[in-house]
This record gives sequence, structure tokens and C-alpha cells, in this order.
Amino acid sequence: MEFISISEAEKKKKGNVSIRGWILRERGSNEFKFLIIRDSTGTIQCILKKDKFKKQWDEIDKLQIEASVEIEGTIKEDKRAPTGYEIEAEKIKIIGLSDKFPINKDLNEELLGDRRHLWLRSRKMTSIMKIRDTVLSTMREHWRKKGFYEYHSPSLLGMQAEGGSTLFKVDYFGKPLYLSQTWQLHAEAGIFALEKIFTIQPSFRAEKSKTSRHLTEYWHGEMEVAWENFDYLQNDAEELIKSIVEKVLKERKTELEIIGRDPKKLEATVKKKFPRITYDEALKLLKEKKKINIPWGKDLRTIEEDKLSEIYDTPVFVTNYPKVVKAFYMKEAEGTKKGKETVLGFDLIAPEGYGELVGGSQREERIEKLKENLKAQGENPEKYEFYFDTRRYGSVPHGGYGMGVERVISWICGLETIKDAIAFPRTMTRYSP
Ligand code: 4AD
Repeated sequence: MEFISISEAEKKKKGNVSIRGWILRERGSNEFKFLIIRDSTGTIQCILKKDKFKKQWDEIDKLQIEASVEIEGTIKEDKRAPTGYEIEAEKIKIIGLSDKFPINKDLNEELLGDRRHLWLRSRKMTSIMKIRDTVLSTMREHWRKKGFYEYHSPSLLGMQAEGGSTLFKVDYFGKPLYLSQTWQLHAEAGIFALEKIFTIQPSFRAEKSKTSRHLTEYWHGEMEVAWENFDYLQNDAEELIKSIVEKVLKERKTELEIIGRDPKKLEATVKKKFPRITYDEALKLLKEKKKINIPWGKDLRTIEEDKLSEIYDTPVFVTNYPKVVKAFYMKEAEGTKKGKETVLGFDLIAPEGYGELVGGSQREERIEKLKENLKAQGENPEKYEFYFDTRRYGSVPHGGYGMGVERVISWICGLETIKDAIAFPRTMTRYSP
């Protein structure tokens, strides 16, 4: 008989079924054994009666958690079973025995981290990984629908884009290279061929801080677009976040329930327009509503972002930051009140203190400005000649943004740490397994 998944077996409700999976829990007596079997789709209780398995009983009796088995039997509704269904087994084939499984509820975060390759099987991690899959497929769907092409950039680079302090140096056959912090500089070259492009690829930041929202390797969803303005970028980022949350709410109800996330907390994000405030307005709000005084020209730190997020139940755009705190490629906000002192850059701050989800900007087109900005950061503009070429040959207004995939997952799932938003997290202190 053909194997079907546990969820398919439950949909079938009655009759003969063959399933396969791993033992989640087991208990028994002299007369019978209860095995809760899990596969990627769910869990089900199987009952094995001793009188049917006389020859195999010794083996069955010794089965431990996580052993893999194939079971054939009759499924029926049973109110007493944990999922409301039970399979009475006719046959069992033991595929892989299991040693005593070294995961239990007393392990702390560090020990679970060391055993991450095994902890991935937990209901919590399985659910988060399914939500992650929904997030990633919705990102692709969103951009494809709008005519964007998927385009990739190298991860080994000769220059920085997001400041020197978070660069990872790599010994590249004796020459120093860096791991990419963003696809952006090479994406800006790509728009002259494809106009609308996106990527989903890892970015690297040598973050020395031990926080609940920083990874050293994270997945970065980025877009770059020709001809469009600053509003377009914010509109697109808002649509993207709304589509992701809407899809998760629709397709991942069970998983949200398993991890204990209240879906109501995400509803405003789908329904309401995200507020858009300038940096100056953010300072004013923080002063008036949170009694926090930030001198103009200082970046918003984690604590201030968190305080700001308390004011809203949806993500909030903060725009027009002071030029001194932002990347060299951001366009000066000419024609606005603070004009050249500020840039057409935005951060999208998550609700509930989950930090910055998206960062983006209109790009500076003037080579002299770019050189000036690079020099102000102590960079040698000569390394950026290829980048200046994108401004020499038919330059057009353009911009883009980057979304931290794990930041979004962490917020949607209500996680305590961003590390659980990815199967094998990398931070300053966690790099194995
Ligand atoms: O704001 P950032 O630094 O922007 C850029 O890299 C631009 N070049 C993107 C672009 O315009 N193409 O990073 C973008 C996003 C942040 O908003 C945050 O969500 C995420 O990347 N991010 C991190 N996520 C996890 N761990 C880290 N250490 C992160 N650093 C940034």
C-alpha cells in the first residue's frame, strides 16, 4: 500500500492507511503500546496490541523517541486520542532505531543551540520553518507579480556599502575582500538592463552586539528599481509586508497556534495604512509622548525605536534622516525644510519592539556627491569606479530597499530571539553546528 502523510490519513478519516514518520512519544503496558508518530504534516496516535505483534514485541517494547517507523493499520476517529484520530496498527516496520534523544524541556538556550540539528525536529521549530517558507514564497510572488526579475550579486566584494564597522574580511588568495553587507551596489548596475529587480540572498554583518535582533549572516530580500521615486519605494515595502502577513494569517493559522502567537496582534498591519513620519517628527513624538530627548543628528538606537513602536500597532516609516547617520549612496532631500542635511532614506520600524524590518532609499545620482560622502567616511573613492560608471552612462532616478527576512519572521512569530527565525543561526558567539 502507498504511504500517505498523517494529515492526508486524518482527512481520509477511516479505512486502511500506511504512514511513516518518527516517534514523538511512547507509552505502554504488557498488553499494548501507544506510539505518537509525527511527520512533517502532523501527529497521530497509533495503538499496537501485543497479541497481534507477538514475534516483534521485544523490539516494539524497546522503541525510543525519534526512532523511525512505517505503520499500516486502520484509522478511526477517537475522542480520547490527542488529535481526535487513532490508527490501530496491523503492521510495523522499524526503519531506524534511536538512542536516548538528548533533547528535553530542561535544556537552556545554549544547550539547545549546541543540539540545534536535533532541536529542529521540535513542533516549535517545524512551525517556524513552515512560516519562514510562506514568508519567502510570498516575497517572490509579490515582486514577480509586479514584473520584477530575480537577479543576483556576488557575496565576495572589494568594498563596503553600509559602513566599515560591520565588515567581515576574507583572505582571498592573499588579497583582502569582504563578505557583502548588501547586494545594492551591484544591483544598481543591473537596473540598466532589467529595470525592476529583486533578490533573496544572504548578507553578512560583523555585528559585535549580542542582541535579540542581530545575526551575522541573515537572509536579505532586496529590490532595486529604475525611474521610480521615494514614495514608490515605501508603497512597495508596505504592500510587501502586508502581503506576507496576510498570507501567514491565512495559511499558517495552525503553526501560529502551536508557537503561541496571537494572530490578532498582526491584524492591524493588514488593515491599516502604515504611518509615515519624518525623523524630525519622530524626535518630537519621542519627546512629547515618551519623555526622551534626542539631539538632532543622532541616529535612533534600539531603545528609541522600541519606544516609537509602542505608539503604533502597525509598522511605521521614519523618513528623512540626517545625512550623517546614513549610507553614502542616499540622495540628499533637496527641496525639503532641512534640505541637504537630510536624505531620502527610510527605516520601517516593526510594532512590539521588533526593530527595523526594512531600510531603503532613493539613490544619489551625482558622482561628486558620492565621492564627497565616501571621503567623509574615510573611504577611498577609487575602489568605486565601477559604481560611478552607473552614473556616467544614462543615469536615471532610481532606488531600492532591503528587508531582513529573519526580522520579519521574528516579529510575525513573536519570537524572543531572532536566532529561532533561521535553522542554523550565526551570531558572534554561535557558529556551530
Ligand atoms: O538598513 P540596511 O543596512 O539597508 C541595506 O543594506 C540597504 N543596502 C538595502 C537596500 O537598499 N537594498 O539593512 C536592511 C535590513 C534592515 O532593515 C534589517 O531588517 C536587516 O536588513 N538587517 C539585519 N537583520 C538581521 N541581522 C542583522 N545584523 C541585520 N542588519 C540589517
